[in-house]
Amino acid sequence: MDAFRITGGTRLSGRIRVDGSKNAALPEMAAALMAQTPVQLRGLPQLSDIDNMVTLMTELGCEIERDGEDVRIVNSGNGSWHARYEIVKTMRASICVLGPLLARYGKARVAMPGGCAIGDRPVDLHLRGMEALGATVELDGGDIVVEAKRLKGATVFLGGPFGSTVLGTANVMCAATHAEGVTVIESAACEPEIMDLADMLNRMGASITGAGTPRITIRGKGSLQGCDHRVMPDRIVAGTIAIASAITNGDVIIDDFPYDHLLAVIDRLNATGVRVHREDEAQPASRCTVKVTSDRRLEPVLFTTQPYPGFPTDLQAQMMTLLCFADGNSIVTEKIFPDRFLHVSELVRMGAKVYRQGGTVVVQGVQRLVGAPVMASDLRGSASLVLAGLAAEGETTVSRIYHLDRGYCHLETQLNSLGAQIERFDPDATVAASEDKIKSTSY
Ligand code: EPZ
Repeated sequence: MDAFRITGGTRLSGRIRVDGSKNAALPEMAAALMAQTPVQLRGLPQLSDIDNMVTLMTELGCEIERDGEDVRIVNSGNGSWHARYEIVKTMRASICVLGPLLARYGKARVAMPGGCAIGDRPVDLHLRGMEALGATVELDGGDIVVEAKRLKGATVFLGGPFGSTVLGTANVMCAATHAEGVTVIESAACEPEIMDLADMLNRMGASITGAGTPRITIRGKGSLQGCDHRVMPDRIVAGTIAIASAITNGDVIIDDFPYDHLLAVIDRLNATGVRVHREDEAQPASRCTVKVTSDRRLEPVLFTTQPYPGFPTDLQAQMMTLLCFADGNSIVTEKIFPDRFLHVSELVRMGAKVYRQGGTVVVQGVQRLVGAPVMASDLRGSASLVLAGLAAEGETTVSRIYHLDRGYCHLETQLNSLGAQIERFDPDATVAASEDKIKSTSY
């Protein structure tokens, strides 16, 4: 299992481009299951989650050709409609094939995804949506089994105790494209990834309006064709790189930055004293060039994670790490995944003063963090530990980097191109080599 060895203290500078969005690409790949003709997706990030999705789609009978960041998906319609637990347990986002399989085959068997390090990951709202469209829903040996002789348009309410559901909205939107009549999703997720998926589905011949608002209307079609679609930039990776510049008092230019998908984050960064400047107002705000600078002590701020357009839960850990260096006390409240704080104890190991009370954390700014061995437990928490290592004094080793590789394309290469000093290594090999050395010298 790989780890990172990070030597902190260098200010990042230079230029970098944001990769395609993992959280848009996964449901968009799943949507290709519905296409009667080939789908071309461009600008996919090269991540282990994408690799897992390719494995799942192949097992479902799709022919998949990858060419760098582009992928061509053909589903002849003679494939399987069963997403096995062995794959789903490695990536709970596999649930996003539920709606497309039901639309294509009139049935689907998808292993119930387990929870994960950031908390329970229920799918009750997904199943409520499938039932509303006329499907029967059963649980059989840990698998969700849905079946519908014909899908019928309906009004579906997807609001839950923590707001709407992003992948649940994606599932219902996909299934509704094959339902008779009109489907209205009330309390739909408004995330940009849903807008990007709707844009792709409409290119496939669907008739979807209202994506990006809490009310999405889908007029059912008998079938969908292929399309050629470029995946939107990854707003979470973009925010992570912006914070990497800020936390090192850097001066970084970021291309393909989805400025208008990060307004809540930019608002909070500005409040700390970090500047995110659009370099060319003529560029579209969804994919533009910005410069991120931060050259003085940071002001403390309050933020609460919310459904879009609020502050995204996927940048909570990274922003918390930045606030460790603020000149005062900041308050962070996590409303989407209240247990999403596994990074707190690791930051404390580096000298951070972070105090958790339930779903709220007080971050008392400190003058410095000190490098230490820390352990990643989830995707975005691991990114926050890398950021901490960039700014800490001395050496930080972050173990279990496989968490990070699920959502960032060789982050060490990207940050090293900006001046960071990160080395990827295998601690087990290192230990084995030193044991061999001891054996070879022992008498
Ligand atoms: C998507 O997950 C993202 N993943 C997550 O990003 C992101 O954190 C999350 O949306 C929230 O923005 C992908 O898009 C692949 P939800 P999703 O259903 O759709 C509750 C990352 O780091 N809920 O919107 O699975 C749920 O427990 C990942 O890239 C129900 O109660 O999340 C949570 O509290 C992590 N019932 C809230 O809603 C349901 O049926 C939001 O979950 C579904 C969800």
